[in-house]
Amino acid sequence: MATQRAGILGTGHAYPEGILTNADLTKMVDTSDEWITTRTGIKQRRKAGPGEYTSLFAVRAARNAIERAGLDVSDIDLILCATVSPDQILPSTGCIIQAELGANKAAAMDVVAACSGFLYGITLANTMIQTGQSKYALVIGAEVLTQYVDYSDRHTCVLFGDGAGAAVLGPVNGDRGILATRIRSDGRYQEQLFSPGGGTRRPPTADTLAAGDHFFKMKGNELFKVAVRSMAEVSREVLEEAGEKAEDVKLFIPHQANQRITDAVASKLDVDDSRVYSNISMHGNTSSASIPIALDECVEAGRVSEGDLVLLASFGGGVTWGGVLMRW
Ligand code: ACO
Repeated sequence: MATQRAGILGTGHAYPEGILTNADLTKMVDTSDEWITTRTGIKQRRKAGPGEYTSLFAVRAARNAIERAGLDVSDIDLILCATVSPDQILPSTGCIIQAELGANKAAAMDVVAACSGFLYGITLANTMIQTGQSKYALVIGAEVLTQYVDYSDRHTCVLFGDGAGAAVLGPVNGDRGILATRIRSDGRYQEQLFSPGGGTRRPPTADTLAAGDHFFKMKGNELFKVAVRSMAEVSREVLEEAGEKAEDVKLFIPHQANQRITDAVASKLDVDDSRVYSNISMHGNTSSASIPIALDECVEAGRVSEGDLVLLASFGGGVTWGGVLMRW
């Protein structure tokens, strides 16, 4: 029996109004606009203010995506929220988003795969639609990462920003839709990016809070190498699986972690700058939100047209990585 192909029907994004510039950071830690720009490409990032939390931005992005898909909230039967900065431990941010939207017939849950979470979500939703268990799936990447950033640690505090992006997936006919997906992880590298405190292994106490155990710790140098290698490899894998070539990719959206990582991956794949999307200078690294925010910005700017081959690739803490190839 032929399976039903799924595709993206609508996208949306949202982020806080608050902006943290490189100049702001120079007042907080020993850094400079020159260091941050040349090492990362980041000029500013969005930062949630007091009283702003992850699902707020997720719901805004989701409403845009549902409207652009031409659907009603009641059509959504699956909600996957990719996040490593949930509103709270229980319930899932997916369930909080479900209640806020009023998508009462959906199954909702979170996907925890750090910066690869959105592509993990797309992969799972694609399979659910292909097998007929779901018809219209809402996949969201949403983060308020700045709550987990130690603003006295210059190695990490310059990198991260907040925001949310969403996509509605549904059945599509003809050539368009998702052609190949691949998700991978390797838990042996978990200490390259992790937050040791706050869970059952090291429950939150006054001591763990004082020690900053709930903040992200990162081995940036090591992660850099894994990121370039894994994103290039997974991109080649999805291209090969779909029988497509990198030279035919019209739009490449890698996870927005660092401009040097993006440049290195694009160069390994031989995809020239004009076909690579980057918004790192404006948003920094928004983890699971980075690809869906970028994708929606491309849709809004008219950078993607029907029939275009679109390649998405990610890597993140875990470590996790993934690739999705689709025809728009
Ligand atoms: N300002 C000024 N100097 C700094 C800063 C800063 N903000 N941060 C580090 N430095 C210094 C270091 O202390 C070091 O100085 P030293 O040699 O005297 O000790 C020097 O700059 C070089 O440091 P490196 O860490 O080697 O710098 P590198 O070129 O590797 O850049 C960076 C660091 C930007 C973190 C890079 O390694 C990177 O982007 N790695 C990938 C990280 C990433 O993307 N993580 C997110 C994963 S996504 C997720 O799952 C959420």
